[in-house]
Amino acid sequence: MKVFHTVSGLRDDLNKDRLKGLRIGFVPTMGNLHGGHLALIKQARETNDIVVCSIFVNALQFGLNEDWDKYPRTYQGDCDKLRDAGCDYLFHPDDIEMYPNGLDTQSRVICPTMTDVLCGASRPGHFEGVTTVVSKLFNIVQPDEAIFGIKDYQQLAVIRRMAEDLCMPIQISSAPIHREPDGLAMSSRNSYITAEERPLVIVLKDSLAWIAEEIKAGNRDFVGLEGTAKSRIIEAGFKIDYVTICNSKTLDQAADDDLEITILGAMFTESARLIDNLSISL
Ligand code: PAF
Repeated sequence: MKVFHTVSGLRDDLNKDRLKGLRIGFVPTMGNLHGGHLALIKQARETNDIVVCSIFVNALQFGLNEDWDKYPRTYQGDCDKLRDAGCDYLFHPDDIEMYPNGLDTQSRVICPTMTDVLCGASRPGHFEGVTTVVSKLFNIVQPDEAIFGIKDYQQLAVIRRMAEDLCMPIQISSAPIHREPDGLAMSSRNSYITAEERPLVIVLKDSLAWIAEEIKAGNRDFVGLEGTAKSRIIEAGFKIDYVTICNSKTLDQAADDDLEITILGAMFTESARLIDNLSISL
């Protein structure tokens, strides 16, 4: 695996690959890689000739009181995992390389409305940081395909919308949620969960799964279902951010006659914010 820290270095090699007609797959990450990320690399490997991964902890997508400084940085271990997974190029820029003009004056990419709800409501500016850095990374790598995990469902929907709205010639693909044996969705932030909380956090996934079963059985009292699921999570000792039943494409509140529904939830443990989701077709 070749490692690049500069835009120009990565571009030089990718240009040569492109001239040979090779198809380029891209997996952007913030590092602290787990099985979910490695599944994205594996998927990229299957449909592309060259697989590029980026590791960049993007300050622009963290709020002032969020965990940018304590976000786990595990570069050496990540390199070993990527090499084993068959990644060809790793792009690992520093802040100056990505934001040479500083963060405050950086041009931004905004995807309105869809980013005001769910995680966007509790993390103002977060998605603007994501769409801006992902656009930059897309311009740097110019991949044929980019792959994102379904665990960050809203992020995936926003990036799909951005690529469509801005006519980006990139296939945006998704990969299923990777789960721990008890069903907890894998996340780089799971390391913040305490040993006491660990057996209990599965309540988030279980509550979303319970809603899905109720809807499949014909229950359309979405507000009631959301309320009951929230109560279960609170009873388990966690603070609710949201539990919402949405139209899978628009992320608007689901309507009675919607056929593609996604149930999304976010809750706070002592020092982690966990998200999960579940999609159903009726
Ligand atoms: O999902 C992530 O890890 C990040 O939001 C991403 C897409 C790499 C942008 O920084």
